[in-house]
Amino acid sequence: MKTKAIIAFVLFVAVAIGVAVILAISAKKDFSSSHSRSFYDFSSEIGNIEPVGSSPPIDAGLLIHGEWVYRGMCIGCHGVKGDGNGGVWTLGEKYSKAHQLPRMPRDFSAAIFKIRSTPSGSLPTDNDLFKSISRGLVADQDMPAFKFLPERDRWAVLAYIKSLSPRWVEEKDYQQPAVEIGQPPLPDEPMLEAGKGVYAKMQCAKCHGPTGKGDGETANELKDDNGLPIKPRNFSDASQFVGSSDPRGVYQTFTTGIDGTPMPSYADNLNEDQRWQLVYYVMSFRGDWSLEKIRSQVQVERTANAKPTGDGMSK
Ligand code: HEC
Ligand code: HEC
Repeated sequence: MKTKAIIAFVLFVAVAIGVAVILAISAKKDFSSSHSRSFYDFSSEIGNIEPVGSSPPIDAGLLIHGEWVYRGMCIGCHGVKGDGNGGVWTLGEKYSKAHQLPRMPRDFSAAIFKIRSTPSGSLPTDNDLFKSISRGLVADQDMPAFKFLPERDRWAVLAYIKSLSPRWVEEKDYQQPAVEIGQPPLPDEPMLEAGKGVYAKMQCAKCHGPTGKGDGETANELKDDNGLPIKPRNFSDASQFVGSSDPRGVYQTFTTGIDGTPMPSYADNLNEDQRWQLVYYVMSFRGDWSLEKIRSQVQVERTANAKPTGDGMSK
């Protein structure tokens, strides 16, 4: 009698553990699928990424509000002084591996930014910063997405972080305009073939590797401006991109470079045709690459952009 009860109990526990494991695995699956960015680009499930309006007037009230948002949302990583030395970074080894930051949070007093529509070495536009704050960088790993914050909060914290470096005042009169990026052409096989040639000629493989896996010959020697080791991007996984991974985003990345890292700007080396060839060649390293899929996505975008919007906004 007693042994039967023990066996029943053991069976019950085993089944319970089994169910728990299955639930945990499926929960994890849901989590990653809802958080990973798509092949093409991250979409905003909640809230907007593009600013709908422009910044409210930057006055003492907005800056105080921005400082509050900063204290609530950003200080743990970016630090009390905004120099990137927040506790999440400086106490890194006290965290479990999964919660350690892979990269140092940005130092707002140096004001060197990775994601810019502006030329290498210059300050980003407000739109660039608004987008970075809204969508994060690699949102599940280093810089979270704050698109859930009301726009006013995002503008306020943006104004606050700009108050932390004198560069914004000193360089105000010669702020560089954004690099113009036109409509992406429809990709085809000859374009990819040509892109392969551009990739070879520009020696992207030295860092990114011949098959774009981020394993080029110099990959293990690279350091960022903080002196920390940095890997060239593995092009097969768009979810690891710090910038936008759609055709325009990739175009912007190698045209303006990623400041503070060894990733150079190719603004002076390539003509318009070569740039688009390179964009699609880089995208073709993705695990889920399909020429047909990207052609239809680009086509949809072209049709949408061709329609007159009638909102009176011209570019
Ligand atoms: C969990 C830590 C964490 C929090 C919280 C956080 N950040 Fe970041 N942030 C980072 C890291 C790490 C980077 C650098 C990522 C990289 O270099 O790839 C970064 C980079 C940035 C950048 C630089 C973008 C660029 O183009 O270089 C901006 C702007 C920024 N954060 C703003 C904010 C604001 C504003 C908040 C609060 C609303 C915030 N961050 C909260 C970790 C964080
Ligand atoms: C000297 C080494 C080096 C060379 C040469 C180089 N890259 Fe990079 N590249 C990097 C590093 C390092 C990163 C990662 C930067 C980071 O993590 O912030 C990167 C990142 C990128 C990214 C990813 C951007 C993102 O959003 O994450 C793209 C796209 C890219 N490079 C394209 C190119 C292309 C195209 C070429 C050739 C025209 C090239 N790179 C040449 C070092 C290099």
